[in-house]
Amino acid sequence: YYLQKADSILALMTLEEKIGQLNLPVGGDITTGEAGSSDVLNAIREGKVGGIFNLKSAEKIKEAQRVAFEESRLKIPLLIGMDVIHGYETLFPIPLGLSSTWDMELIEKSARIAAQEASADGINWTFSPMVDVSRDPRWGRVSEGNGEDPFLGAEIAKAMIRGYQGDDLSLQNTIMACVKHFALYGAPEAGRDYNTVDMSRQRMFNEYLLPYKVAVESGVGSVMTAFNDVDGIPATGNKWLMTDLLRENWGFNGFVVTDYTAINEMSPHGLGDLQKVSALALNAGVDMDMVGEGFLTTLEKSLKEGMVSQNQIDQAVRRILIAKFKLGLFENPFRYSDLERSKNEIFTQSNRQIAREIASQSFVLLKNDGNILPLSQKGTIALIGPMADNRENMAGTWSVAGKFTESVSLRDGLEKAVDNQMNILYARGANVVEDPEFEERVSIFGKPTYRDERPEEVMIQEAVAAARKSNVIIAAMGEAAEMSGEASSRSDIELPANQRRLLQALKATGKPIILVLFTGRPMALKWEAENIPSILNVWFAGSEAGDAIADVLFGKVNPSGKLTATFPQNVGQIPIFYNHKNTGRPLPEGQWFQKFRSNYLDVSNDPLYPFGFGLSYTEFQYGDIQLNKKELRGDEVLKISVEVRNTGKYDGAEVVQLYVRDREASVTRPVKELKGFKKVFLKTGESQTVNFELKQDDLKFYNYDLDFVFEPGEFDIMLGSNSRDLNISRVNWN
Ligand code: IFM
Repeated sequence: YYLQKADSILALMTLEEKIGQLNLPVGGDITTGEAGSSDVLNAIREGKVGGIFNLKSAEKIKEAQRVAFEESRLKIPLLIGMDVIHGYETLFPIPLGLSSTWDMELIEKSARIAAQEASADGINWTFSPMVDVSRDPRWGRVSEGNGEDPFLGAEIAKAMIRGYQGDDLSLQNTIMACVKHFALYGAPEAGRDYNTVDMSRQRMFNEYLLPYKVAVESGVGSVMTAFNDVDGIPATGNKWLMTDLLRENWGFNGFVVTDYTAINEMSPHGLGDLQKVSALALNAGVDMDMVGEGFLTTLEKSLKEGMVSQNQIDQAVRRILIAKFKLGLFENPFRYSDLERSKNEIFTQSNRQIAREIASQSFVLLKNDGNILPLSQKGTIALIGPMADNRENMAGTWSVAGKFTESVSLRDGLEKAVDNQMNILYARGANVVEDPEFEERVSIFGKPTYRDERPEEVMIQEAVAAARKSNVIIAAMGEAAEMSGEASSRSDIELPANQRRLLQALKATGKPIILVLFTGRPMALKWEAENIPSILNVWFAGSEAGDAIADVLFGKVNPSGKLTATFPQNVGQIPIFYNHKNTGRPLPEGQWFQKFRSNYLDVSNDPLYPFGFGLSYTEFQYGDIQLNKKELRGDEVLKISVEVRNTGKYDGAEVVQLYVRDREASVTRPVKELKGFKKVFLKTGESQTVNFELKQDDLKFYNYDLDFVFEPGEFDIMLGSNSRDLNISRVNWN
């Protein structure tokens, strides 16, 4: 139906208008009033624009749609895209934090609210979800993904797409999703952004591709290409990826957009001039060119010279028109531009309340010696650290529409929570980093770090004096928001040295310390783990961060977040991930070193905190694994259950995790792989039987020939509270 409609429009289009549909300029400089003279607006009028992105405000967007609809020859409405990554104005935790909830309903809800708010302002397309599996916390964009596991990443991709797109894309409050960055952007060499990716197909298929594939199966409307190359061909010009795999093998029928100037960047990649790389991209299966204007400026010539075909151009246009039909834009180009909705449905109290709940579920309690937490509401708190009193940085990275200055800082949240019943003594104590140039690099995008120019000793003395007068120290430290995210890779992922010195001085006071860790990546926290009794990792929790942190610190909410990416002991262990292979010389469990085994002389193989790890204020006890059978054949179903009991003093939620090890196969297999998880809420003293089912299909993998196969044999079935602490049982499946 949409195909016919698209073809009827295609028949009316000039070549120039067709190529115009493939062009996606950034629209951020369009302003109402002056819009008439802006280049982008003129380009829209001339039919040279298919969509614009990162333009904010209902009025400006309405104006852009009006020009397209009323002043361009064919009246084709625009796609209006934006990086709505973890919320629109109401910000939720960064995606790595969201993933730590392991709660698909909450994640879907966050995307739903993001879609409602964004669409109320005229946006109909989001560049989310990002599903790039990453095992390298040096890579800054680990903050924007779902961690290191493909199975969990795929579940999250589904939830996000459901949240954005709902069941009907043409509704006023649903928007089109864009899964990114296809493919393998999360595996750059040395964790340096945009760097080369070169991996075996085996690894690609078994360990990295699943979330993209599941996004396609979930009906995602669009796909964004990655900046990196994949086995020697940039993803944006990689026909094997964009056509053979994505369309022919997985059946994707939406449209493909490049990342920002990714076509042009194929020139420095070394693939030729703009005309050549633009033709390469189109021939590979790319439909829309973000910002670079390679399509706009070269395709006509390439068509004349036979480098691309009319059919290929038509095909790309068709896909973009179909997306516009699906969004209902032809019926009503102003469907998403409702000024009333824009006034009433964004950054509402109820959305902010949900953001607070979700944020509190994303925190991961890494350590709590002597049960310092939860805090009782008595005495004096010393609130110390460069992240304690900074509203803007609560937003985290890629939060373009957020109201940064209206976020709740930790100081705001604590002051509200104690309501004059306790004293809070605040001292900054340290800058985010010592080096002013480094700090300048991350004090950007409306997220100042508020550098204090006083000498370090003076700041530390002030903090220590506050600490001495207090019963407990809350140290709000870690990274600033823009120390992770795009082009924010780090080679050193420890706490910045000046913050560590502050922490050492605070420790010397002998007062109990709670480290509230702000971070967009797993950090190497060996010293902190050995010296600080309590560590609560709060990521960047969004608009309501401070209230949510206070809820957890005072025990209104019992923390239940679990890590979705391994925390290493030191940077030299990277890449370190739970689903690694065994090698032919594995280290016997519990040992640090044996000569001629796969290990290091100077650090054990263990992570600091494993995948799936996170403490609670209460304790959970696991019973033995119950299996319906230990010998299975063919299509039989393995039923697995375990009794989990809350044996501690607080009500709380636990994420029960199921892992499997394939003990013998035609190719080497990981020592464990996540195959299921369930988050259960248990009141103190309560128990619940948690059930899982596995079928043969769940145990399939890509063999050496890349066939997706089940190979009979023995499988370890492992259940527990994280990827390290597991009960094991074994089955034979033939
Ligand atoms: O969506 C983003 C992408 O993730 C990185 N480059 C820019 C795009 C548009 O802002």
